[in-house]
Amino acid sequence: MPSYETITVEKRNAVAVLTINRPDKLNALNKLVHRESVTALDELRRDKSIRVLVFTGAGEKSFVAGADISEFQEQTPVSQRDLFHEKTLFNSIDTFPKPVIAMINGFCLGGGNELALACDLRVCSENAKFSQPEINLGLIPGGGGTQRLARLIGEGRAMEIMLTGDMIDAQTAFKFGLVNHVYPLAELEEKTMELANKIADKAPIALQLAKEAVKFASRSNLDEGLRREVDLFALCFSTEDKQEGVSAFLEKRKAVFKGK
Ligand code: COA
Repeated sequence: MPSYETITVEKRNAVAVLTINRPDKLNALNKLVHRESVTALDELRRDKSIRVLVFTGAGEKSFVAGADISEFQEQTPVSQRDLFHEKTLFNSIDTFPKPVIAMINGFCLGGGNELALACDLRVCSENAKFSQPEINLGLIPGGGGTQRLARLIGEGRAMEIMLTGDMIDAQTAFKFGLVNHVYPLAELEEKTMELANKIADKAPIALQLAKEAVKFASRSNLDEGLRREVDLFALCFSTEDKQEGVSAFLEKRKAVFKGK
């Protein structure tokens, strides 16, 4: 792994933890965070030893407090459009072939919430706070928030969050289905790693195909989605891991998956 200025990447057996490391700026996403994270994701995408990725923010106060607002001063419509037409961090997470968990340890605002929404699962601490505050800056979300939030929690709830810019707390986020689990901050890492390791034990190709199938659900109609599911299900039958999973069940032992 190359060394980075604004992020750290730690490999804990089959789980990689990518930490956005600008705690003095509440881990706001500047251009360098975007660039370095995309590079790290490209690396982790190819790394066969890594089966699950966890995204988090440094410190105990903030996951990510949004886009770095200081960079908005210099942005023109054209430069902003070019930036989001590049290979963005949001798209890199969305297309990452392995499960990605957002471990949300505090403020999860604007682009931070959009980053979390691009992940597959979201786990947060009790002190986490969520919002899309762009409206307070005369902006709207531009990293997928308007689309992903509405699909995940429904149009009415997403609309209120986007039109008011208000923060919601962890329990409300849980009630809305924005996060999968809420834990005391002191337990967040342990519980998230338990979940990550549980998933990392499963068959990697089946995980990838399950992800692809579920993501297709909000991007297609039911008939297309069901057809895609049948094709991906059939594809699993070409893997050694399917043989191993079935044999292990019949032989009453734990399956050992190799990602083949
Ligand atoms: N972009 C750039 N810098 C940010 C930032 C952001 N999105 N969010 C926080 N920071 C910086 C602050 O400017 C401050 O820097 P400084 O110490 O050099 O002045 C530092 O992080 C700490 O933030 P501060 O505002 O002092 O902390 P707080 O606890 O009083 O307030 C927030 C926390 C999250 C309520 C407040 O920082 C905030 O509203 N941030 C902006 C959130 C936002 O609108 N994000 C969406 C952008 S589209």
